[in-house]
Amino acid sequence: MRTLIANGTIVTADGSWRGDVLVDGEVIAQIGSELPAAGVTADETIDAAGRYVIPGAIDVHTHMELPFGGTFAKDTFETGSRAAAFGGTTTIVDFAVQSKGQALRAGLDTWHAKAEGTTVIDYGFHMIMSDVNDDTLAEMDQLVAEGVPDFKLFTAYPGVFFSDDAAIFRAMQQTGKNGGLIMMHAENGPVIDIVAADLVAAGKTDPLYHGIARYPVFEGEATNRVIRLAEAAQVPVYIVHLSAADALDAVRHARDRGSMAFAETCPQYLFLSLDDLGNGFEGAKFVCSPPLRTPEHQEQLWTGLRKDDLQVVSTDHCPFDFHGQKELGRGDFRKVPNGLPAVEDRVDLLHDGGVVGGRISKERWVDVISTAPAKLFGMYPRKGAIAVGSDADLVVYDPERTRVISAATHHMNVDYSCYEGREVQGASDVVMSRGTVVVRDGTFSGRKGHGQFIPRATADYARLA
Ligand code: URP
Ligand code: ZN
Ligand code: ZN
Repeated sequence: MRTLIANGTIVTADGSWRGDVLVDGEVIAQIGSELPAAGVTADETIDAAGRYVIPGAIDVHTHMELPFGGTFAKDTFETGSRAAAFGGTTTIVDFAVQSKGQALRAGLDTWHAKAEGTTVIDYGFHMIMSDVNDDTLAEMDQLVAEGVPDFKLFTAYPGVFFSDDAAIFRAMQQTGKNGGLIMMHAENGPVIDIVAADLVAAGKTDPLYHGIARYPVFEGEATNRVIRLAEAAQVPVYIVHLSAADALDAVRHARDRGSMAFAETCPQYLFLSLDDLGNGFEGAKFVCSPPLRTPEHQEQLWTGLRKDDLQVVSTDHCPFDFHGQKELGRGDFRKVPNGLPAVEDRVDLLHDGGVVGGRISKERWVDVISTAPAKLFGMYPRKGAIAVGSDADLVVYDPERTRVISAATHHMNVDYSCYEGREVQGASDVVMSRGTVVVRDGTFSGRKGHGQFIPRATADYARLA
């Protein structure tokens, strides 16, 4: 099957131009202008006039079916990847979980079993390490060889995912040998737990206090600490879901002194604030960690994106229904499952707030939602690029069309939206995954199981720093 996407404005991280893209089978076969006039034929032509043609977006931080706080994130690989496709995302990288006492292999196998045959777009895995010991350290090398080269560790969530500094340093040393990447959830969990317990003891149990307990400095301190540990181990480190200016300062200083420090932020930290947490128990809809911050942090994050102190915008998609799941935390904010739905809305929110809002260029938008994640997570130029030979993961994007975000119309399997009623400018008209149109004009035309596991390489982190 040959598909010609004609007359669009091709937008990449490097520049934009009017042109045509020919897809042959699963890959991009030719890029040029006036290809039909040059004799190029296709089985189908998609007229992209007035619209952008961008590489499919890549979300490198999702949690489909994550067990958390006595329940599970609601989206399965099928429902979550389908919702992602509606929003212009053609690859997700999800976090396989090693439960305490388990081998990494067991966790990875479990995640493969969940995703294989169900996912509608391509996918990869990072590995969450809950135990660092001689066995799991040895297993890390094997996972890198199998295309799972990144390992997430936590300075948060004591008793669940938390690792102490020695464990983190050992895992870093191991990636120094196998070429992998350590991803860090950087908040000082033990200290947060003390503040949270004091608040609850004082009767401050509403979701707002989830945000109050997790001081920005607790994120800044942990971010600086893990970056310093990575510098000592001489390995790259990637800070996930960065929310606070204090943490951004730590990343910026590290990058200024030449460290291989990278970071992502998420739409919730760019568009939502502590005010959203403050509406009685409704605020539970906005409980995630790190928490939403006061609005001053938002503009600093946008500046970080402009200046490349932040390289990626992912979602940390981790949806729990308000009814029956978030409600587990009524009377004690510590029991609200942490996480927000976002996988469907990231691309449009970033286009609206970033490009239409004049904060970033459309090329930088493509970079932070697609190209930079592809490069940092070992998928470039197969993904994240419009280039001959790259996978035909392409989106025909209408930069003018508006839509109103709502739980009534979204495809994520969750009973609320954090952005209910917000109008955004920009929407995906046609979404193609490896040459197959999976969404066209709001209708799903993909297939359960179309998505393939993408074994990923390690990246040249020193060059990307
Ligand atoms: O609140 C969050 N972020 N939930 C998902 C788990 C994690 O820490 O990424
Ligand atoms: Zn995390
Ligand atoms: Zn996460």
